[in-house]
Amino acid sequence: MARVLVFDSGVGGLSVLKELRAQKCATSFGYLADNGFFPYGIKEDAALIERLPQLIRAAVVAHEFDAVVVACNTASTIALDEIRVAVDVPVVGTVPAIKPACGVSHSRVVGLLGTPGTVRRPYTDDLILKFAGDCEVLRHGSAELVELAERKMSDGVLDVEDVQDAVRGLFCQPRGEQIDTVVLACTHFPLLRDELRKAVDRPIQWVDSGAAIARQTKKVLSDNEPPAGRVAVSDQLLLTASEITPSLLRSFQAAGFTNPQLIDF
Ligand code: DGL
Repeated sequence: MARVLVFDSGVGGLSVLKELRAQKCATSFGYLADNGFFPYGIKEDAALIERLPQLIRAAVVAHEFDAVVVACNTASTIALDEIRVAVDVPVVGTVPAIKPACGVSHSRVVGLLGTPGTVRRPYTDDLILKFAGDCEVLRHGSAELVELAERKMSDGVLDVEDVQDAVRGLFCQPRGEQIDTVVLACTHFPLLRDELRKAVDRPIQWVDSGAAIARQTKKVLSDNEPPAGRVAVSDQLLLTASEITPSLLRSFQAAGFTNPQLIDF
């Protein structure tokens, strides 16, 4: 009967939700999309640190979740500690999969594709220092790719040339042509995996954190059993702004969230 809250600025968390469902992490899910403050990747750090713990706390207090998955690299790399302090349930974060990516790279040149916020964070510097070993990690922050993922989920189709333009800055850096592995360090980007494959016309290993997050969520839930006698609740979509296109709403419906609710925040 475990209930898990998945949180992101927009649709990106759906890439993590897919893994959480595949690994049967919970019996029901809440999905909190901070569409009123989207996108996070170009926001000031201080604004995110101030907003996110209170927002997630409001959702957990109002809707009784057993764990929170912060399905957002931009939020996790700046506010994970503060979010953990704000809520009294376990919080699983999403951080760039630098360790696994560097573990599988043959060329020893790895790309890091995230939001502008994530790629410049001290948290990311530390991950590279700790886990990149002898790999060179080339970074590229793209707010455009985030918008493209939202557009794909809303319209269903994308122009691959737009994706090509958005990733060019990664591959045209010195040694960029040697990249054989790319960390998808934004949860929106796995939603564009097919388009990325087409846009970068050579074999690349695209690595994200979804499966590892689901494993970790299972683990924290098995260490923290939900209270007995819990009544089953259906999946819930929580939004911070009522303006959402009907087609985007349909993407959430396709992911199992049929009744959007505005969160009082
Ligand atoms: N999905 C988010 C991430 O993983 C953030 C996208 C955004 O709002 O800029 O970083």
